[in-house]
Amino acid sequence: MSNITCIGLLTSGGDAPGMNAAIRAVTRAAIYNGWKVKGIYRGYEGLINNEIKDLSTESVSNTIQRGGTILKTARSKEFMTVEGRRKAYENMKAHGIDALIVIGGNGSLAGAQTFAHEFDLPCIGLPGTIDNDLYGTDSTIGYDTALNTILDCVDKIRDTATSHNRIFFIEVMGRDAGFLAQNSAIAAGAEAAIIPEDQTNVDQLAAFIERGIRKSKNSSIVIVSESQKDGSGGAMYYADRVKNEYPDFDVRVSILGHLQRGGVPTAYDRILSSRLGVAAIEALKDGQRNVMVGIKNNEIVYVPFNKAIKMDKPIDKELINVLQVLSI
Ligand code: F6P
Repeated sequence: MSNITCIGLLTSGGDAPGMNAAIRAVTRAAIYNGWKVKGIYRGYEGLINNEIKDLSTESVSNTIQRGGTILKTARSKEFMTVEGRRKAYENMKAHGIDALIVIGGNGSLAGAQTFAHEFDLPCIGLPGTIDNDLYGTDSTIGYDTALNTILDCVDKIRDTATSHNRIFFIEVMGRDAGFLAQNSAIAAGAEAAIIPEDQTNVDQLAAFIERGIRKSKNSSIVIVSESQKDGSGGAMYYADRVKNEYPDFDVRVSILGHLQRGGVPTAYDRILSSRLGVAAIEALKDGQRNVMVGIKNNEIVYVPFNKAIKMDKPIDKELINVLQVLSI
């Protein structure tokens, strides 16, 4: 059992559809339990700058269906310093916050882990990122919505690709993880996905081109995971390669960008966020700390921060096979 009476809640890093549903769930579950809730605005940056306000059940009314995050978000450089984290801790104490709930991706949960360790604080993480790249959970908040948004776009691009007999390279987000690319490619009936996890990318591309020629396909869709920080990879890179090797092909590129992060969360993301939010409060009540709440085989699980952040979440080889088999 815990001595908690007041929690702080923040969203951090890239926003993801469903974050509002998670904020609502955490807030209402805490209040249901008799605790106070302090909303921290703009992530760790707001904790450092004292942007903290009380949240009530009404503060989160009419938010479950909204994309983005009502608490705003940021990527805080200052929180990466000891001085920044000290300021954040002092503000937490001044507001009487006993425990912190962080909704965010890899970097945000890594920040929570360091903070929790340094100041001996109970912290609970909720996986909030469209990338689905956190170990120990089958899905992250926002992933399902982003996947459906991508599908909507790819279906539309296919109309024009077919009309013009073109090859389209469509770039999707996912930073270091190919979940969005691989699964959107399967669901959209694309010819190939180029993902960071698959070492056979270049061969795969050549095979796809040859196969297309053999079968005289008129148009093709290739989904490509976004380019890396050093500028390598990405849809432009592969489109240029194809144009050089096959000058007769009519090649186009479409980079979906940040539209993938917005929009109304799907039913799946709203339910996931609601379940994770309630489970986060249950975890604190049970005296758990420094864990991420996740979902595995439709059951709530608690994953230690160091596992969630540091362990790789591999792409299932079966998914790679499904796409290969179905794109003949
Ligand atoms: O981590 C989520 C994510 O959307 C990544 O897929 C992408 O690389 C990154 O955020 C983009 O971040 P920003 O909004 O800071 O450009």
